[in-house]
Amino acid sequence: MTARLDTERLIIRPLQLTDSSAVYDYRSNPEVVRYQMWRPESESDVRQFIREQLGLTPGMPGIWYQFGLVRKADNELIGDCGIHIPLEHTEAAELGMTLAQTSQRLGYATEAIVALLDYCFTSLGLLSVLARTEKRNMRSIALIRRMDFYPARAENFGLAEEEDELLFVMERPDWERRKAAQGRHPSPGGLFLNS
Ligand SMILES: CC(C)(COP(=O)(O)OP(=O)(O)OC[C@H]1O[C@@H](n2cnc3c(N)ncnc32)[C@H](O)[C@@H]1OP(=O)(O)O)[C@@H](O)C(=O)NCCC(=O)NCCS
Repeated sequence: MTARLDTERLIIRPLQLTDSSAVYDYRSNPEVVRYQMWRPESESDVRQFIREQLGLTPGMPGIWYQFGLVRKADNELIGDCGIHIPLEHTEAAELGMTLAQTSQRLGYATEAIVALLDYCFTSLGLLSVLARTEKRNMRSIALIRRMDFYPARAENFGLAEEEDELLFVMERPDWERRKAAQGRHPSPGGLFLNS
């Protein structure tokens, strides 16, 4: 299955080898990757990573599946986002998100996370979605709070507790309530799912 999600301004689709240069550009910006594990040292590192992703499927437990975020207005790749289902807890997924610096603070991350939450709960049939962030990553914490995630314990989801990190969760019933409320007050991002 090729997963592709459409929002008002974005296409969320699997990373492709032709994305390597754009991904390397924003992921070699120290500001962007300050709180992140994956810091490729060259464009060829990115190509290798994307090659490895080509055989994977979103929803496979035990791997990070990475999507590209493409801005519809100019077809530019402006970031990536990942889904990880822990092997020890396959009813939950952890999300990650990285935007190029010039595409931050424009609502794209919020728009993408709405689509990813819906994908996790509706298409993948998961019960919980997790967001983990470093305690100092204020932009990430703001995004998580904007979405109404609430604090969670890592051990409840088969994840290791890290002293310098915070873990948050969204449960499916909370997401369904939020979606129903947004139906009455549509969000500026809008959401249209193809798969
Ligand atoms: C974490 C990260 C994804 C958050 O992204 P972000 O740009 O802050 O979030 P958004 O794209 O939703 O933008 C929100 C801002 O856009 C504004 N905005 C503008 N148009 C908007 C719209 N249509 N919808 C929602 N918000 C909108 C909001 O008011 C908000 O403004 P503020 O920053 O002044 O509060 C981003 O900072 C990032 O990529 N950081 C580097 C990588 C990283 O650390 N990732 C997290 C660890 S996995």
